[in-house]
Amino acid sequence: MKNKSLIEVPDSYNNIQETLEVADKILSDAVDNSSTLFHTLVVSLFDGKKVSSRVMVLREFDLKKRVMRFHTDYRASKIQQLSDNPSVSVIGYDPELKVQIKLGGKIDIHYDDDVTQKAWEGSSNRSKKCYTVKGGSSKKINDPVEYDIQEFDPESGYINFAVLLFSFKSLEYLYLKRSGHRRAIHTWESALDSNWLVP
Ligand SMILES: Cc1cc2nc3c(=O)[nH]c(=O)nc-3n(C[C@H](O)[C@H](O)[C@H](O)COP(=O)(O)O)c2cc1C
Repeated sequence: MKNKSLIEVPDSYNNIQETLEVADKILSDAVDNSSTLFHTLVVSLFDGKKVSSRVMVLREFDLKKRVMRFHTDYRASKIQQLSDNPSVSVIGYDPELKVQIKLGGKIDIHYDDDVTQKAWEGSSNRSKKCYTVKGGSSKKINDPVEYDIQEFDPESGYINFAVLLFSFKSLEYLYLKRSGHRRAIHTWESALDSNWLVP
């Protein structure tokens, strides 16, 4: 159903590993399911002076590899900021699920390599269109109408296309419900370590 998440979450948790299993289910579903708010996550980084955040579409989630994939414009200022400081926090919340998931880790930037080629081939013409915009993102302009994309060759956008691979080392699961709030933190240093936190 439109605007409804297809995932159901448990009413209560019997063990902490269940929170990781449900997070996996929610984020895997969110890749192709634009009706969950986990499809559009908030990605925050440090630009050298302050924290900056933006919404980005989740393109891939792999819990085994502990990787999320995002696409962006290589001309965006966050590319330079991420090369200087790759530490990133990613957060999402869906009120239908009453679940917040927060991840911490580092981003690797990919440009014109095997990773970007594979991701580009898997992108729709509608997505490719964004990368054909002239001037690059965040440039100051007088008239936005001049930047409306009319006719375009989708393939011409590849030169501006970048893939951000986010490798996470922590995943925090917060479930707020009257029956009992639950907050779990999963971290990976050498092995997985899972703990309940006071919610
Ligand atoms: C629903 C939605 C989805 C978006 N998806 C992306 C995305 O996948 N990649 C991206 O770079 N920007 C995406 N944006 C735009 C960013 O939020 C941001 O405005 C843009 O990346 C430029 O800002 P920045 O360079 O500070 O990140 C999206 C915005 C919205 C509202």
